[in-house]
Amino acid sequence: MTDIAELETQTLAAIAAAADEAALEAVRVGALGKKGGISALLSTLGKMSPDERKTEGAKINALKDRAAEAIAARRDVLQAQALEKRLSAETLDVTLPVQETGQELGRIHPISQVMDELTAIFADMGFSVAEGPDIESDDYNFTKLNFPEGHPAREMHDTFFFAPGEGGKRKLLRTHTSPVQVRTMLSKAPPIRVICPGRTYRCDSDQTHTPMFHQVEGLVIDETTHMGHLKWALEEFLKSFFEVTSVKMRFRPSFFPFTEPSAEVDVQCRRQGGDIRFGEGEDWMEILGCGMVHPNVLRNCGLDPDKYQGFAFGVGIDRLAMLKYGMSDLRAFFEADVRWLTHYGFRPLDFPTLAGGLSG
Ligand code: PHE
Repeated sequence: MTDIAELETQTLAAIAAAADEAALEAVRVGALGKKGGISALLSTLGKMSPDERKTEGAKINALKDRAAEAIAARRDVLQAQALEKRLSAETLDVTLPVQETGQELGRIHPISQVMDELTAIFADMGFSVAEGPDIESDDYNFTKLNFPEGHPAREMHDTFFFAPGEGGKRKLLRTHTSPVQVRTMLSKAPPIRVICPGRTYRCDSDQTHTPMFHQVEGLVIDETTHMGHLKWALEEFLKSFFEVTSVKMRFRPSFFPFTEPSAEVDVQCRRQGGDIRFGEGEDWMEILGCGMVHPNVLRNCGLDPDKYQGFAFGVGIDRLAMLKYGMSDLRAFFEADVRWLTHYGFRPLDFPTLAGGLSG
């Protein structure tokens, strides 16, 4: 029979000599594992007489406990040593620039930014946001807006038509956001005060025109609103948007089938080389059409023109973005060039608010 005291001495010496956790684990298996020395001793108990078993059993179990305790204590020491060693070897250079995460590298497109900005401004003036589909009926895009059948104004819009569907009716890509005026008047009772930002489409492409572009429609209908209110609302909007105390704007008489009287509004700018600057110079840029809602449109939308009146406007969002942020070619907006977006884009978590600043 192995001498218990000797086995204890050997085991404790091996534990103390274990240089790392792996070596210690090998010692544990060698002593306390299924085939370990102490386990082997325990298995000899079955062959002993009851008296012997009592005294020997107690001794072997005490040895087992002491060995287990010694292993646990040694493990704590080894773990502390390993941590100490790692900490003294590892260094951290706090002067290194922090790498931006994917989320921080992302940029908000100037169009989205401008939409958020103008929504914040009009919301502050008491407007809510309405939306309509990009694929419209001819009825909402033209007929209800007082474009007579076959009227040349329909052609002026360079419309993208779909192939005729059932009943020979053609759907189209809306050429302006004005059909949302119709949808709003058909679904809401006055007083109405909405803006409708969205995509619009015309078959046109040059430095200031793209086949898909963006507009924000405005519509106010009640019993007292007049042209003075329209002028005031637009002026306030432009001042807030361009973050200036006054804007130079020019109202030119114009024609739209759905407003009477109608006007187009230009703002002052300077074009020089590839640059465009707002508020200075001798050039003008047309940014919106507007007017008092035509009585025929009110009638077509179920409102009594003898009772209700109001104004509407349609602003080119892309033009606003070009003027505010100095981008001269509209086509670059839609080329998805990451370098352009990195330069002109906005940080994703800088939301425009009137209180916190629109453009950061
Ligand atoms: N829908 C017109 C356009 O796209 C703009 C406009 C809107 C004019 C509302 C008057 C009133 O040209």
